[in-house]
Amino acid sequence: MGSQEKVETIESREWYLAAHAPEGVPTSDHLKLRTFSISLADESIHENHVVVKILYISVDPYLRAIMTGIDDGLCLPQFQINQVIFSYGIGRVIRSKESNYSGGDFVPSPVMPVAEYSMVQPSQLRFKNIDPGPGIPFTDYLSTLGVAGYAAWVALKMIGNPKPGSNVFISAAAGGVGMHAGQLAKLKGCNVIGSTGTDEKVELLKEIGYDDAFNYNASESFDAALSKYCPDGIDFYLDNVGGKMLEAVLNHVNHKAHIVLCGMISQYNKVWKERDGIRNLLNMVGKEVKMEGYLMSSLDHRFGDFTKEMETYIKQGKIISKHVIYNGIESFLESLGSMFSSSNIGKVLIQSRNKI
Ligand SMILES: NC(=O)c1ccc[n+]([C@@H]2O[C@H](COP(=O)([O-])OP(=O)(O)OC[C@H]3O[C@@H](n4cnc5c(N)ncnc54)[C@H](OP(=O)(O)O)[C@@H]3O)[C@@H](O)[C@H]2O)c1
Repeated sequence: MGSQEKVETIESREWYLAAHAPEGVPTSDHLKLRTFSISLADESIHENHVVVKILYISVDPYLRAIMTGIDDGLCLPQFQINQVIFSYGIGRVIRSKESNYSGGDFVPSPVMPVAEYSMVQPSQLRFKNIDPGPGIPFTDYLSTLGVAGYAAWVALKMIGNPKPGSNVFISAAAGGVGMHAGQLAKLKGCNVIGSTGTDEKVELLKEIGYDDAFNYNASESFDAALSKYCPDGIDFYLDNVGGKMLEAVLNHVNHKAHIVLCGMISQYNKVWKERDGIRNLLNMVGKEVKMEGYLMSSLDHRFGDFTKEMETYIKQGKIISKHVIYNGIESFLESLGSMFSSSNIGKVLIQSRNKI
């Protein structure tokens, strides 16, 4: 694009929090869409702000965890009533009153409003001006090079460091984080097993390089599945689901195993007193297991190293990404709800109806 568009006022829609959702999957009682106008007249744009049209939004499970109104574990600021929902996203600058940005720039942001257009401050546009070139599909900027890829990279390169030949197990393996974590563990020479919710996703995991995988919904028990698929025990577990799977894994850990807690999606829709307790933590004592949680947002100083490494892997075809793309920001509620079932394969994204 490059040139400034002529329209002076734009109608846009945005999602906002109408009521907190302490339990269950958020519904249209909690999340609502509203319309607003943005004037593109020069005097209407705040100094040092840019107006962006939003192209893609990343839909991530943590968004649900910050809609409860109570911090019950993640220590991230909760959305307030009436606040616009934000997520990782990519937009394109259509007006700029900030010297570092020009019309046409592609701007990723970790706090992009779930909207069609927005006036934002440059501090929101942390990773400036991506340059979608040949070899890197646009959508990869919100999956392999976004939250999912970075969460996986942090888990395997910064928090844990599974050695070649070690037995790695990953839950929610066919999701955004799991898909990347499995491929990174294979690049490290590990033996990698995943769990997921459908037979179709089991096949996908094998296609992208997992040594084997099982459908936890079709397993007689998680314990039985882990006995079958991890006969030599587990040295490294990347936990994306928590609850009963975490408990089962503790029955299969090897001496000095490392459990990295990325997230606990099986527990997000329950108030904390209703969540599953883990009854066999004593295994951690006997097996001298280390269990460690992390938040990638506290570790973003390595984002540059991560990007360089992952871009190389993408170009070499060593890391691939699968996406589910919902159309139009009106699909936000549906796409968020879909994370709490086994219906998606890969990273969940929304593509707005704006033309690139
Ligand atoms: N620590 C961090 O900084 C960080 C950053 C990003 C993400 N995370 C966490 O990483 C985890 C994965 O995130 P993601 O973005 O990659 O999501 P995702 O795996 O793409 O999507 C969620 C998947 O979780 C599985 N799932 C949903 N409900 C479940 C349940 N009750 N029991 C077992 N599995 C269930 C479903 O797949 P299947 O049922 O088919 O397996 C679903 O597709 C989440 O816990 C998220 O909060 C943490």
